[in-house]
Formats: sequence, C-alpha cells, structure tokens
Amino acid sequence: MKDLRPAFDRLLDVAKAFHEATPGVTDFAPWPSALVWADKPAGTLPVAKLVRDWYDDRPDEAGAFHRAIKVVSPHAGWQQTYTEEEVGAEYLANYGYFELYGPNGHYKTDELRGFIGYWGSGLTYDWHYHQAEELYAVISGGAKFLSEGQDEARLGPGETHFHAANQQHAIEIRGSAVIVYSIWRGEGMNGRAQLTNSPRA
Ligand SMILES: [Fe+2]
Repeated sequence: MKDLRPAFDRLLDVAKAFHEATPGVTDFAPWPSALVWADKPAGTLPVAKLVRDWYDDRPDEAGAFHRAIKVVSPHAGWQQTYTEEEVGAEYLANYGYFELYGPNGHYKTDELRGFIGYWGSGLTYDWHYHQAEELYAVISGGAKFLSEGQDEARLGPGETHFHAANQQHAIEIRGSAVIVYSIWRGEGMNGRAQLTNSPRA
C-alpha cells in the first residue's frame, strides 16, 4: 500500500502554517509541541469523496490547508458523532470530521485536539455543547455560527469563533459547504459533543 505519511505530513505542515498565521487561533492555543504519527485507518464515509472533489485554488494559507485536506481525504479517519436517529440520513450523507491531532488523532498528542470538519450546504448542525473549550476557524466556504448569549456571526475563511465550556452552539450551512478547523482544549478534551433540543433561554 502507498505510504500515506508524506501527504499527512504535508497537511500537518500547512495546518501549522494556518494555525500560526491566524491571530484568533494562536491566541487560543499554541501549536502542539510534540506530535507522534499514528497509523490510523481511513474512515469510509461519503464525506471523503465530497471533500476530495471540492476544487479550490486560493493562494493563501487557507487555500493550501484546503488542498492538503483534499489530498488526504480518501485516507482520512472520517467519523461521525451522531446517529441517523439523531440527525437523519441526509445529514449523515453530507457531514463528517477527522481528528488530525489529539488523543485519537492521525498524530497523537495530549496537549490539544484538532479536528477537520465538513458540512454540506443546506445542513443545520443543531444546538449542542461539550465541556472542552473550542475554537472554530473556517478554512473554506462559510456558515452562520450561533452561540448561546451571543450575536450570530456569518464567517468565512480565516475567521474564528470561540465557545466556552458547555456553551451551547449551532451552525447553519447555506449557499456553500464549509470546512472548519476546530480545536479543543482543557478539561473534557477527550469527551464528545451532546445535542440538545434548543438553546438555553
Ligand atoms: Fe462545538
């Protein structure tokens, strides 16, 4: 089998370049100091093809990040947090994420957890929360980010959005798909997100 490590190393390099060039991201957490390659299997989900087929030639860090994600997409450990019962078949056919680095990432570290997530246009990632503090940074496309106690924000590439521990949040994806680099830090970093029926009043 083809050695996939160079493609993932390239992704890690451009992720680091984006991370360090984006002020909101560096303010949230420094790039992890020690990352150990973990030979993870690919996740066979429809999202792998959707990302592989998303052409993008932007010359900036976000564009380079996008293209490196696209290259590894067929080999990435794509996964889904939710079941069809929770979110429906349409949602599962157009969404997925993989852990680039973290306790279960393609690169192992216990310092921080970095995910790449994709959502197709028309989806709504309903209200949810988790204990870990989170920073979203948009890589491609755009979406409307809603957070408990805050004004909603339409964000595009290079823009970031912070969530405090257990703060409820949601994403509405319209007009274009979105790829998000999401980072978890602190207590609950190994946990998972929980859906909730509606935002707290
Ligand atoms: Fe979140």
